[in-house]
Amino acid sequence: MKRHDPRDWDSLARGFDEHVCHVLSEERNGRVQTAIRASVGASDRVADFGCGTGRALPLLADLADRVDAYDFAPELLAVAERAVARRENVACRVVDLSDDALALPTVDAGVCVNALLSPSAPLRTKVLATISRTVRPGGRLVLVVPSLESALLTVHRHVEIHLRDGWSDRSARAAADVSGLTPAGIRDGVLDRGGVRTKLYLREEVELLLDAFGWTVEAIDKAEYDWSTEFESPPDWMAAPYPWDWVLRAIKQRRRR
Ligand SMILES: C[S@@+](CC[C@H](N)C(=O)[O-])C[C@H]1O[C@@H](n2cnc3c(N)ncnc32)[C@H](O)[C@@H]1O
Repeated sequence: MKRHDPRDWDSLARGFDEHVCHVLSEERNGRVQTAIRASVGASDRVADFGCGTGRALPLLADLADRVDAYDFAPELLAVAERAVARRENVACRVVDLSDDALALPTVDAGVCVNALLSPSAPLRTKVLATISRTVRPGGRLVLVVPSLESALLTVHRHVEIHLRDGWSDRSARAAADVSGLTPAGIRDGVLDRGGVRTKLYLREEVELLLDAFGWTVEAIDKAEYDWSTEFESPPDWMAAPYPWDWVLRAIKQRRRR
């Protein structure tokens, strides 16, 4: 499965919770929720870019004056619409955020949770360009992206599981699951995640990326998850550091440097 055009995403409408990490409820340390609360004010118009089934919308609707929810997968957005049917301050709209000609209403703050995942760099650039021209100068962004460092730590831990079980160094390394890692994948930060080619980010890479689009990164943190999100039966000894996504809080520069 590709999962990078609307039909791919729509085909997940029923199994969304099973296949797609629910960041806000699965993170162990509440960093995404904290970043959103710090970035969205009561008088704000806020946009959720790539809202999927609308998991962040109730929180955004509580915090902000108005919420614009965008996704290019109509069936996912229909689920989101049902979830916020009683919220008068949320408007859901099907849009392809990679459309260069897209002009969305300006917002004070934006949230984008694991939607910049396409393996195509030009496509991701277009989505980030849309987000960057929609949030007003001085406005805020909460961006959550998968961590490449975390994926590599998972491979490291997989080797360690075997070593602690008494395997030889050679067999432990040979048995670690590196099926998603290819040289081009390491070069581009694109790995196979559950059968889907997915873009993962280095910390400095995503900081530089936001800077290139006119954002000043104010804070970068880890949204941590249990090891059960990476291994079927993680051993009891496996604790911190936990696997994580990067959570960035950024402010739109008033003038491009
Ligand atoms: C991993 S899901 C995350 C959904 C939601 N933010 C969440 O945390 O549950 C990625 C979402 O981004 C949407 N998406 C990806 N590319 C998009 C694009 N070019 N335009 C609009 N939505 C897009 C997908 O349809 C999908 O709903």
